[in-house]
Amino acid sequence: MKILILGATGVVGKAALERALGDSSIAQVIAPTRCGLSPHPKLANPVAPELSLLLPDADAWEVDAVICAMGTTIGKAGSKAAFRHVDYALPIAFSKRVFRKGAQALALVSSPGASLSIPLFYCRTKGELERDIQKIGFESVTIVRPGMIGGERQEFRLAERMVLPVAKFLRPLLPRGLRVNPAANIADVLVDSVVAGKAEARMVTSRDLV
Ligand SMILES: NC(=O)c1ccc[n+]([C@@H]2O[C@H](COP(=O)([O-])OP(=O)(O)OC[C@H]3O[C@@H](n4cnc5c(N)ncnc54)[C@H](OP(=O)(O)O)[C@@H]3O)[C@@H](O)[C@H]2O)c1
Repeated sequence: MKILILGATGVVGKAALERALGDSSIAQVIAPTRCGLSPHPKLANPVAPELSLLLPDADAWEVDAVICAMGTTIGKAGSKAAFRHVDYALPIAFSKRVFRKGAQALALVSSPGASLSIPLFYCRTKGELERDIQKIGFESVTIVRPGMIGGERQEFRLAERMVLPVAKFLRPLLPRGLRVNPAANIADVLVDSVVAGKAEARMVTSRDLV
């Protein structure tokens, strides 16, 4: 099968890419990014400074499934509109394109607070993404809501640098829902679910990922 990975340079996306490239049932991975990835015989890596420039190309990709692990923060994006472009508009636009060309399975990394009723812009945007991506029509939909993600991050995030070591130390004492979710565990769920392609809508939460 052929799969599309959005966000393949990120902590979860990188882990999903590695898992997918090593999976014998996946013949090709298409991973559009803003910066080039290391070459691999099974990888096609279209590169553009703004990902929406690659949208028209998606019609020719003919993937069976899509994994979306892209996202940013309002601070990093620079505005609420720019954040929404990355966390809502791009995932919806790519998913719709590949669905129209036959993709049947989707796995999305969302967030624990995703909700349509929370006034927080971040949570509402994630809630709208979950709602609207499920409306597209994929036969198999897996939404993963991780807690704090564990993995190697180049970018410095103060809160993560402070909280992650404490969370790791206290791991045996913490309830499952509050433990760190390793990126590799999230990647396993994402890849396994699109490969299985079961006709279902499934929600995977932090406590399932420890
Ligand atoms: N970090 C956490 O603890 C946590 C917890 C719960 C949920 N989540 C959610 O889980 C998902 C994955 O998280 P992560 O920590 O793996 O994210 P990450 O490491 O920050 O990676 C984000 C990915 O999105 C891409 N991206 C960001 N801005 C972009 C833009 N303007 N255009 C195109 N691509 C862009 C990045 O590409 P570039 O390399 O080009 O920037 C990267 O591939 C996100 O949706 C996040 O909201 C994260």
